[in-house]
Amino acid sequence: MVLPEMADGGHAEVAFFRDDETGLECIVAIYDADRQPAVGGTRMYDYASEAEALEDALRLSKAMAYKTAAAGFDEGGGKGVILGDPATDKDEALLRAYGRVVDGMRGSFHTGVDMNITTEDVSVMGTETSYVGGTEGGRLAERTARGVVAGMRACLREQYGTASFADVTVVVQGLGKVGAPLAEQLVDRGCRVAVADLDERRVDELTARHDVGVVDPDAVYDEPCDVFAPCATGAVVNDRTVPRLQCDIVAGSANNVLAEDRHAAALEERGILYAPDFVVNAGGLIAGLGGTLGLSDAEIDARIDDIETRLEEIFERRDREDVSTAVAANRYAEDRM
Ligand code: NAI
Repeated sequence: MVLPEMADGGHAEVAFFRDDETGLECIVAIYDADRQPAVGGTRMYDYASEAEALEDALRLSKAMAYKTAAAGFDEGGGKGVILGDPATDKDEALLRAYGRVVDGMRGSFHTGVDMNITTEDVSVMGTETSYVGGTEGGRLAERTARGVVAGMRACLREQYGTASFADVTVVVQGLGKVGAPLAEQLVDRGCRVAVADLDERRVDELTARHDVGVVDPDAVYDEPCDVFAPCATGAVVNDRTVPRLQCDIVAGSANNVLAEDRHAAALEERGILYAPDFVVNAGGLIAGLGGTLGLSDAEIDARIDDIETRLEEIFERRDREDVSTAVAANRYAEDRM
């Protein structure tokens, strides 16, 4: 049953599409009826069931709606999911068919990269529709890292009374498109940085160029530091890891950092400040949307740096309303929807 699930999440629209010729099966979820267009990436995944794919589309489109609102944009949240194994089912015909699906939505949904959909794949979709973007890839991730740095400044001021990175130690989990430039930006600011990645080549690449420490991926939660920056997968703050964390701040790019919203309160009980993920990781979104709105690079960077002020407002709201930072961030976004 789709409508009850939509009602639970507050979603406005869910559309299912299939195409005999290419085998395409996909779902597009749009969160808000009155904030158009909906923006959000498209992912491809070999879901165990249609229900699991629908759940992903609903969850991710809602998260995008909160992210765009918190970042000060009028656009709403959307998400596309393509059901299938990216290793065997993804080809040009399928991506073009998906491009036609997006085009058929006549601009109500604008999409780009996400898990298992690369900038090259988006370029292929773009042969069928103009409602795709973000094909510049790396720069968006670098700007996501810039936004995380801005968010960390607000967190440092909140915890230590100064936004200086001198003498601050940050542990970066995941050295991918965001984690690697984040580590570099932090080193440039005089920060002590330690890194962890399951892929040793990523660690080797960074340590060859920078004086950073290395942490075993399994020991990352036990490593004493000022800031833990999760930049890999989601749900890393959970019942098992909260008691282990040896940091004062959790601020990173990963989406859905908290296994559940209650883990923000669990962190705060331990005196650890949590920077809500969708606020602190909005740099790439701001760059992508800012580009389509015709903002200059300097204007985009200024808007990304505003993440610092946005977080300060959220911390004030947390104090005023006596809630966790996660709840305060949700309310902050809802006020702007
Ligand atoms: P990526 O796929 O380029 O990099 C992820 C890295 O994490 C990989 O090097 C992987 O080996 C490593 N990793 C995975 N599990 C790990 C673990 N348990 N311990 C240590 N390392 C691990 O991903 P990307 O683009 O850098 O994104 C990172 C996170 O930030 C994701 O959660 C993503 O959803 C989020 N995000 C990314 C944005 C972007 O601009 N790329 C924008 C907003 C959020």
